[in-house]
Amino acid sequence: MTLLVTPRLHLRRFRAEDAAALAAYRSVPEVARYQGWTAPVGEEEAHALVRQFAAGDPGAPGWFQYAVEERATGLLVGDVGVRLDANGMQADLGFTLAPAAQGRGYATEAVRAVLGDLFERRGLRRVSAECDLRNAASARLLERVGFRREGLRPAFTWLKGEWTDDLLYGLLAEWWRG
Ligand SMILES: CC(C)(COP(=O)(O)OP(=O)(O)OC[C@H]1O[C@@H](n2cnc3c(N)ncnc32)[C@H](O)[C@@H]1OP(=O)(O)O)[C@@H](O)C(=O)NCCC(=O)NCCS
Repeated sequence: MTLLVTPRLHLRRFRAEDAAALAAYRSVPEVARYQGWTAPVGEEEAHALVRQFAAGDPGAPGWFQYAVEERATGLLVGDVGVRLDANGMQADLGFTLAPAAQGRGYATEAVRAVLGDLFERRGLRRVSAECDLRNAASARLLERVGFRREGLRPAFTWLKGEWTDDLLYGLLAEWWRG
């Protein structure tokens, strides 16, 4: 089921057939580098993830994962995750693209669609995001869509055998409208 449409993408629910494509892009070491999971992602793990994503409710507190599908090919090219706070007024955001889909503005297009929905239709006040200080592509994307850098937490996350410095970002509804 398509939830959001952009010129080049469909943002829809995950479905069982997405497991192989999800496993393929989540298994790329550069894609996993700053993320909470470890590559490679096996088929069984991907099937379990897809089942969990498919059962999510975008209107309920907790994570909801949008599958990002390229309209021209019907291929799954990535995902955008939104963690809605229990207060229903703020959320956290995450995003991932398969390497072949990067560098074409797809993440910007998908994230803008999700933010438009959160701020304009669902009336949220704040969306927050975090990224590793070294994750330049992620920081550029966040700033391109209007997030402001709110801080840097040195050695905040122990990830894959090292302490990482995390950038904090925020976007308020009034900045989005402005
Ligand atoms: C973060 C991530 C999604 C960003 O992907 P991306 O491809 O750089 O972002 P977009 O899809 O918005 O593409 C923007 C780039 O495409 C370029 N571009 C090319 N054609 C474009 C078009 N038609 N429209 C817009 N941008 C276009 C832009 O100039 C930009 O390049 P730049 O950042 O070098 O200036 C990607 O790096 C990724 O999946 N990383 C691994 C997972 C990860 O770390 N996620 C974030 C965790 S915090």
